[in-house]
Amino acid sequence: MIPWTEKYRPKRVSEVVGNKEAVESFLSWAKQWSAGKPSKKAALLYGPAGVGKTSLVLAYANENGLDVVEVNASDFRTAEKVEQIVGLASQQATITGLRKRIILVDEVDGLAGKEDVGGVSALLKVITNTRVPIVLVANNPWDQRLAGLREKAQLIEFKRIHKATVVSHLKKICAAEGLKCSDEVLKEIADRSNGDLRSAINDLQAIAATGTISRETLNVLGYRLRDREIFSALAAAFNAKSVRDGRLALEGLDMDLQSFYQWVFDNTPEQISDIDALAEALERLARADMHLQRTTRLQRWGLMKYVTPLITTGVAAAKHKAPTKFAKFSFPSKIRFMSNTRNDREMRERIATKIAAKCHLSTSKAWREILPFIAFIFSHNGAKARGMAKFFDFDKSEVSYLSSGLKSSKK
Ligand SMILES: Nc1ncnc2c1ncn2[C@@H]1O[C@H](COP(=O)(O)OP(=O)(O)O)[C@@H](O)[C@H]1O
Ligand SMILES: [Mg+2]
Repeated sequence: MIPWTEKYRPKRVSEVVGNKEAVESFLSWAKQWSAGKPSKKAALLYGPAGVGKTSLVLAYANENGLDVVEVNASDFRTAEKVEQIVGLASQQATITGLRKRIILVDEVDGLAGKEDVGGVSALLKVITNTRVPIVLVANNPWDQRLAGLREKAQLIEFKRIHKATVVSHLKKICAAEGLKCSDEVLKEIADRSNGDLRSAINDLQAIAATGTISRETLNVLGYRLRDREIFSALAAAFNAKSVRDGRLALEGLDMDLQSFYQWVFDNTPEQISDIDALAEALERLARADMHLQRTTRLQRWGLMKYVTPLITTGVAAAKHKAPTKFAKFSFPSKIRFMSNTRNDREMRERIATKIAAKCHLSTSKAWREILPFIAFIFSHNGAKARGMAKFFDFDKSEVSYLSSGLKSSKK
């Protein structure tokens, strides 16, 4: 399954919707470069996520036959690395010398948060000496530590995509996919995306995957928004063919790496049926787990960067070694177990405390000796239950918990 955000990523600059001003100013900057006289050697594209910053650069490169060297600033732990990677790319000619090149440095704002501030100055130096256009991308470029970069670069601001533009873009995708989809639903999706076209397209794909695109599906899916996001992230992770794919799989997912690890871990045995491939995948997950534990225990945040490739591309590579069958993703049992029992435990605790207060007992005694009777009354005699609820000061959720009959009453 290829994510629609990738499938419909603009191939040409003219396919980048919205942000006309930004596109224009990017093109005029790029034109200066191709004429050999750029007034600024770098451009800094900034603005919210999912509005086409990366897409514009890739489309331009594609249309003009440029090779893109794409790097992520969060991978640079040291100034040295910046020089090694970007510096080298900015000087070297391509092997054949025929193709030109453009450098795309994503997540530049990540450099500002680093304890090692050398990264920014190294990047500045690279920009001063570059023979190749360098595009920096950031969500928020206003950190004090990025001041130097702002000065050196042509600033190009991207804004959220207008709702009407989002709707018409979604319509085009529906048409291409042969889907019927009412305006009302598309508007709702656009509304929720808040001008983030990537998330709008992801939502559309998730909704389409349920088979019917209607108001109702939308309502049903509404409160499961996070689940949908995670399922499409999982699909992308298990199909990642490059480190970049792996990173893209997690883009825009509002979940910490530890939880995502749990999702991947629990789904791996389902997804990989070949025993050798499975062993290999688990080996990588074990290594990722080690890095995760060390990251927090030793406060070595730099280790974090090894986790994503291992749990996405690493697992996917193992999976692709053997023929695969289609398997659905499922909710991690550990997470489900924890949240189920957490609710249960908290509920018991609250109820027992209230009983204990009224009956002058310890909470554990209240739970063991009084509660079974109360629960029996609640599930058999609504009228009595109402009176008792008042007496014990139970709230609605507690009443319905008691009325449902207790699943387990251990304490
Ligand atoms: N302006 C746009 N025009 C067309 N597609 C877009 C646009 N913005 C985002 N998209 C879609 O969303 C995906 C992610 O966009 P991207 O360019 O990576 O956003 P950004 O770099 O601003 O976070 C793209 O692959 C594309 O499918
Ligand atoms: Mg991007």
